[in-house]
Order: sequence, then structure tokens, then C-alpha cells
Amino acid sequence: MANLNDLSAQKIKQNLLERYKNFDIKIFDTLPSTNDFAKELVNSNNFNNGTTITANEQTKGRGRFARNFYSPANTGIYFSTILKKAIPIKDVSLITLISAVAVCKAIKKLTNLEPKIKWINDIYLSNKKICGILVENVSDNTNLKSKGIVVGIGINIFTENFPKDIENKAGSIMCNGLSRNKLIAEILNNLFDLSEDIYNKNVTEEYKSLSLVLNKEISYTKDNKTYTVTAIDITDAGNLVVKDNNNNISVLECEEISIKL
Ligand code: BTN
Repeated sequence: MANLNDLSAQKIKQNLLERYKNFDIKIFDTLPSTNDFAKELVNSNNFNNGTTITANEQTKGRGRFARNFYSPANTGIYFSTILKKAIPIKDVSLITLISAVAVCKAIKKLTNLEPKIKWINDIYLSNKKICGILVENVSDNTNLKSKGIVVGIGINIFTENFPKDIENKAGSIMCNGLSRNKLIAEILNNLFDLSEDIYNKNVTEEYKSLSLVLNKEISYTKDNKTYTVTAIDITDAGNLVVKDNNNNISVLECEEISIKL
């Protein structure tokens, strides 16, 4: 059974790097969605860089494509942190790359396990999805730049009994003694370090080296047609380059892909 310590803002802060110790860390027992809460803070201008909302449980956790993110109490990590950055809206997707690298590095450091990234925002371990990332932008009043970028991260640590629709693909880290507080702090340290320069090409290289999909056959659906292709590259903008059997190249920006595992 789960051996999870209680979430604590103080313990998270203890594990933050000195330069991030003044982050405002808010802990809730239950929330509909930490991303929704964080977006409200940005909309009402009631946030700082690094304001972080964590919940022990979410009743309406959300993923991409308006999917639910299963977020039961005491078994996982559900948090959203706000980057107070004015970047062009088109570049917000780079934050997803940075966040995925930040999560993988933190899990590897604290557990020695080697998670992989399924483009663009899912983290897998032993061929099961153990983490989803939802990056949402709140624009400034010019609508050209971001005012605050909400990075929502959900990780299954000891989650079991997943809903039927995801039971075959969802998994958990299942690492005894892993502290939720330490893992959140480690992810924040990585995320904020990496987001200092969102255009750093080394991050794309790191993202590629952690990829579960590069050089594999994947499929995706577009305009009601399903394509089976090989993933051959990830661009600096975070797009997935694919090649079909006739060597025709296409670039995917945000489509959902599937991979046989
Ligand atoms: C996905 O699987 O497509 C992304 C899932 C993101 C889930 C996290 S949990 C914390 C934050 N709050 C939400 O409602 N969603 C994100």
C-alpha cells in the first residue's frame, strides 16, 4: 500500500534550490483541478513567478483533448506551477518539452528509474503512462504574448485500479519511500533552471534522447484518416517529423499519436 508522506509546503521548500525558496507553495487537500486554480490566479493577477498549487486529490483533473486525468487521493502528485514569462504564444509549446525533461530528470535522480517521453507530453515507464503534462497559456492584453504559463503535472506514484478506459495503458512509479515533497521540489528546480532559456538547443537534444517514439512506427489520425508512419526527428520547435513508406515527410504539431508497445 502507499507509503506516502503528507504533502507539505515547508518540506517542498526545504528541497528547493536556494534561488527558488521564496516560491509561494500552496497545498490543498482537494481541488477540482490545480490548473484551473492556477489559471484563475493568473487571470486575477494574483501570482508570482513560481506560485505552485498542489492538491492531494483532484475531482476534475484535466488532460489534453479535454480528457480526464485520474487523480485519486494519497496516491500521486498533482500540481501546477506558474511561469511568469512574456513569451510569444507560438513558443509556449517549448515549455512542454522543458517540463517533460524536468520530470524525467527528477524521477531518474530520486529513483534511478529511466522514464521516457511519448511525444509530446506523456511520460512512460515500463511501457505504461505514469505522468501527463498539461501546459496552458494565459495571454496578456495584447494577445501576442503570455502573461503566465501554467504547467500542470500529474504523476501516478502508487495509483492502482485505474478507470476501465485507461487501465491497459496507465501505470505507476511504485517506488517505495519516494517522497512526494522531494519529487515536486526536484521537478520545480529542473523546470525553473531549464526555463531560464527556453530556446536552448540542448533541451531539444535531451528531449530527443529521452524519446520513446523516435525511430519507431507510430500512427495518428487527421481529417478522419489514420496514417502509419515512422517518427524520425523532433524539431527545435517541438514538432514531430514523420516519414511514410514512400519516404514522404510530414510534420506533426499537436496531433495525438499512438505507438505499439
Ligand atoms: C494529459 O495526460 O494529457 C495531461 C495530464 C495533466 C494532469 C495534470 S494533474 C495537475 C494539473 N491539473 C490538471 O487538471 N491537469 C494537470
